[in-house]
Amino acid sequence: MRNEIAYPKIVKIKKTKREAKNIKTILFEYDGKNITPGQFLMIWIPGLDEIPMSISYINNKEIGFTFRKVGEATTALYNLKKGNKIGFRGPYGNGFTIKGKNILVVGGGTGIATLAPLIEKILSIKNKKLTAIFGAKTKDEMFFTRRFRGINLKISTDDGSIGFKGMASELTEKIIKEENFDQVITCGPEKMMKKIVDICNLYKIPVQASLERYIKCGIGLCGQCCIGEGLRVCKDGPVFEGDVLNKISEFGYFKRDASGKKIKI
Ligand SMILES: Cc1cc2nc3c(=O)[nH]c(=O)nc-3n(C[C@H](O)[C@H](O)[C@H](O)COP(=O)(O)OP(=O)(O)OC[C@H]3O[C@@H](n4cnc5c(N)ncnc54)[C@H](O)[C@@H]3O)c2cc1C
Ligand code: FES
Repeated sequence: MRNEIAYPKIVKIKKTKREAKNIKTILFEYDGKNITPGQFLMIWIPGLDEIPMSISYINNKEIGFTFRKVGEATTALYNLKKGNKIGFRGPYGNGFTIKGKNILVVGGGTGIATLAPLIEKILSIKNKKLTAIFGAKTKDEMFFTRRFRGINLKISTDDGSIGFKGMASELTEKIIKEENFDQVITCGPEKMMKKIVDICNLYKIPVQASLERYIKCGIGLCGQCCIGEGLRVCKDGPVFEGDVLNKISEFGYFKRDASGKKIKI
């Protein structure tokens, strides 16, 4: 336990992959057999920062995470090459729970990365029916469509450069009106997830969403990531059921920065 908290495991990068504009994957050797899709790692960039990243590739030889270059830490990660070293703690968090037969998975932006191992898990279970929606702002930012070639995948872009023109949440509502789903699972921008949870409430479909909050310890100790009445995103989440989200007034409206100050979403 002491090791798990205090010392990141140091690993050599086995491979980096450009997935789309400003989006890359870093893979390293690790046996992922006990990882649940939806769990995350605390990635340590020596001398710079430690940030949370969902696990986007899971097998028993290697795991990986896929990220967008948005600031200092992710730019440093973006510039790393095969053979460079990073540290990680985890896997942390609860991960997704698959329920029912006919499942709709909706990913927006880098939320697609979080959902990718879940999609692979659903596809590996007999008698499950899967529909996936991947949403991005534009074609250049869409990724993992080749990885999921051949599955029932619908694409949406805000500018219509590929697939349905509009928000992933609009496409979700259109599809939900046409077909009965037993469960909806979503990860992406919080405004998108809020709309999807509201749609699921309307159509009475069980829903799970994976939340992002500022993470420091990642193991439920510091209280930085608390939402609602004391739920820790890093430990009780990041995946929450719709009926829990319905009681969290800040869901879809605000989060907190590193100092704890409220920021509008
Ligand atoms: C559970 C979880 C899983 C995530 N998985 C992914 C993923 O798979 N791919 C991906 O691209 N991004 C993911 N993120 C978001 C990612 O952690 C941030 O984009 C990253 O920390 C930005 O760091 P930066 O220094 O590059 O940017 P900054 O300029 O420092 O920050 C840019 C944005 O990232 C947020 N951020 C910065 N540090 C943290 C932190 N310690 N915890 C949470 N948010 C932070 C800031 O609040 C800000 O909104 C995840 C976040 C969480 C909470
Ligand atoms: S980040 Fe410390 S309790 Fe969640």
